[in-house]
Amino acid sequence: MRSLKQKIAIAVGTRPEIIKMAPIIREIQRKNYEYYIIHSGQHYSYNLDEVFFEQLKLPKPKYRLEVGSKSPGEQTALIISGSEKIFQKERPSVVLVQGDTNTVLGIALAARKMNIPIGHIEAGLRSYDEAMPEEWNRILTDHCSDYLFAPTKNSKKILLREGIKNKKIFVTGNTIVDSVFQNQRYVKFVVELPELKRNSFFLASLHRQENVDNPERFREIIEGLKLVSEKFGLPIVYPIHPRSEKMAKKFGISFGTIKIIEPMNYFAFLHMELNARLILTDSGGVQEEACILMVPCVTLRNSTERPETVQVGANIVSGVSSKSILRCTNKMMQKKRVWKNPFGDGNSAKKIIQIITHLNQNI
Ligand code: UD1
Ligand code: UDP
Repeated sequence: MRSLKQKIAIAVGTRPEIIKMAPIIREIQRKNYEYYIIHSGQHYSYNLDEVFFEQLKLPKPKYRLEVGSKSPGEQTALIISGSEKIFQKERPSVVLVQGDTNTVLGIALAARKMNIPIGHIEAGLRSYDEAMPEEWNRILTDHCSDYLFAPTKNSKKILLREGIKNKKIFVTGNTIVDSVFQNQRYVKFVVELPELKRNSFFLASLHRQENVDNPERFREIIEGLKLVSEKFGLPIVYPIHPRSEKMAKKFGISFGTIKIIEPMNYFAFLHMELNARLILTDSGGVQEEACILMVPCVTLRNSTERPETVQVGANIVSGVSSKSILRCTNKMMQKKRVWKNPFGDGNSAKKIIQIITHLNQNI
């Protein structure tokens, strides 16, 4: 029998995976288990990748697939074939993936084909929007995983409804809470934009493929942000994702007075979130962080796979018309910040590693 102490493979590829996997890596280090990191290279720009390794003091990946930016099929295929080679050589006891990116699906498929156990962290999220590439990544990864770490009871229910066996599913909270709690203390050392006082600006983030690859939709959302800024007389700061920057150039979208800046490092972005009057976003992780940090959120989409944030009163799904963005922002501006974070107490990584270690006796 192979001991888990020998090898846990941790797979990452994009900004949110690095941030949400960091607490898992920290816990594995604390327990002294042997592990290594595989990086797909889906994200490779310094400010989407290396900066998080530096800031979160993570060890360098043992393997980098360097897949880079490709069409979705080619990118996923390169991740499958690249990770298969690593698995042939290393044969890990378990591979852990986090979230819903092409990296997650590619690694999970390669592991499945070799019968290597897969742990899916953040399992059971569904937007029920089939236009989102992430929705298929979530469904396919959940259905080929051996251990499904659902952040909430609601996500466990979704998995059970889809016929996944109860014994594979564990409600553990979301490691984003661990990450926020572990890193919040560093935030006060970061003052990137000193002119922005607490509660005197809006923070925006917008990068979903279905939003920014569609010129009408991208333009309409930006118009919505401009209306919000005018109505409340507050600036909007938008650290722009490279996909959105590329598309804005291509479509000739004008941002007007919206303050466009480079993608931020994690501590600086947490600092901005904490100090924003309200956050407007189409990001998954940012919806969660806004809820955890008690900042009202408007989700610039037609659906969310994080309905818990809406149920507790921290978030509203605005749709993508400029008028509904303004209307929903108005509503969230009235909200008292009294909700309870539904994603756990910051001990998700501990729970996940405990479960994996316990179950591995039977591997
Ligand atoms: C990916 C994920 C998305 C996640 C996001 C996190 C999928 C299908 N999408 O979207 O779920 O929310 O990461 O940020 O897996 N680019 C760079 N530098 C980089 C990486 C990308 O400039 O380091 C540019 C390239 O022009 C590239 C574009 O961004 O074509 C999109 O990158 P890609 O990784 O395909 O998708 P994301 O939009 O980042
Ligand atoms: N983030 C960051 N800098 C930024 C924007 C976001 O560090 O300029 C962090 C944010 O705090 C969150 C994560 O990146 O933890 C969210 O990633 P993203 O929005 O790219 O992906 P998603 O969560 O939508 O998959």
